[in-house]
Amino acid sequence: MIDRLAGIADTVRIDVPSGHRRGIAVIGAGAIVDVAHLPAYRGLGLEVRGVYDRDSKRAAAVAERHGIGRVYQSLEEVLSDDQVEVVDIAVVPWAQPDLVREAIKARKHLLCQKPFAPDVATGRELVDLADAAGLKVAVNQQLRWDEGLAAARAMVQAGWIGTATAMSFTVDISTDWSAWNWLVESPRLEIMYHSIHYLDAIRSILGDPVRVFSTASRRVGQQAVGETRTISTLVFDGDTRAVLHVNHENQGGDQRAEFRIDGTAGAIRGTLGLLYDYPVGRPDTLEVFSKVLPTDGWLAYPVTQRWIPWAFGGPMAGLLRWIAEGETAPTAARDNLRTLALVHALYGSIDHGDVRVPEDV
Ligand SMILES: NC(=O)c1ccc[n+]([C@@H]2O[C@H](COP(=O)([O-])OP(=O)(O)OC[C@H]3O[C@@H](n4cnc5c(N)ncnc54)[C@H](O)[C@@H]3O)[C@@H](O)[C@H]2O)c1
Repeated sequence: MIDRLAGIADTVRIDVPSGHRRGIAVIGAGAIVDVAHLPAYRGLGLEVRGVYDRDSKRAAAVAERHGIGRVYQSLEEVLSDDQVEVVDIAVVPWAQPDLVREAIKARKHLLCQKPFAPDVATGRELVDLADAAGLKVAVNQQLRWDEGLAAARAMVQAGWIGTATAMSFTVDISTDWSAWNWLVESPRLEIMYHSIHYLDAIRSILGDPVRVFSTASRRVGQQAVGETRTISTLVFDGDTRAVLHVNHENQGGDQRAEFRIDGTAGAIRGTLGLLYDYPVGRPDTLEVFSKVLPTDGWLAYPVTQRWIPWAFGGPMAGLLRWIAEGETAPTAARDNLRTLALVHALYGSIDHGDVRVPEDV
């Protein structure tokens, strides 16, 4: 049985062959670049030529911390560096579309942060621009590469639980948004910036849903303006369903983040360790119950890598493979428009989609 698990581990390993490596410039030197992008890229041996942030002190500090040789003083400097083929953007979300337009003019391939664009129409415009220029754009939906989640997907694809029929995320945590004023003030919060990862991960396993229902709420007295608790249902063709219950205002101290995939011949269950004690976290867990192999009850898969930073190597590895070999990246921006459309469909349901329960029965 250990050999079967080793086969899954081989499938989910992230690597970047030397022939795929390209000069990378990073735009944005915020929290996520510091704790995730740059450690992951160093782990993969990637060449980050320089970093730029409109806050140049922040860029200098991050460059020093990660041993990056160059701090660009302007966007023009980044885009005119002809050693840079790939621009990795991680700035406040509303600044991203203009940076994408400028980088495309300068003929750079791009890794963009999620959400890729504020709305699907803007996202489509950017993808069309890139296609017309013959450039590749991918989106940093890195949860697909979290080892536990990726191993679960590999088990589903290997047929270990028969046909997948349901998936759920149950996340009940206490999130401190205060390091990000722009998140505290955002009218759209939980789905746009957090559950977007779960939605994209579900799409990577079950495909695209055809209908959704969602409701959102806030805790009285909470700090953030936007929704912090969401309950969503995704309906797929046939009998397949997915459910997300995500609460960022857990007051009980018993944080948890679980996912589960049910199939016609088994099930997979896991935890996202990072969210039990963010940002310290603990390793993910993953177990499979398979009538196909078969397993003797629930079998543990030994997750060896933390979600942050290691999953952040995945979207970049996918983009670099795409550039080098022509194999479309799993999170290519054109495909990611469907994740963005799903986010907006859920907000549409939250805003307009309820059916009132009659009072006079
Ligand atoms: N993929 C993921 O899992 C993930 C995780 C966290 C954050 N993010 C996304 O990454 C982005 C950055 O998040 P963060 O946590 O680092 O935020 P942050 O607020 O810590 O940092 C944002 C940085 O962007 C810089 N910036 C803003 N506009 C700029 C511009 N026009 N040009 C250059 N620099 C500019 C700011 O000075 C700041 O240093 C956001 O879009 C966020 O949604 C993604």
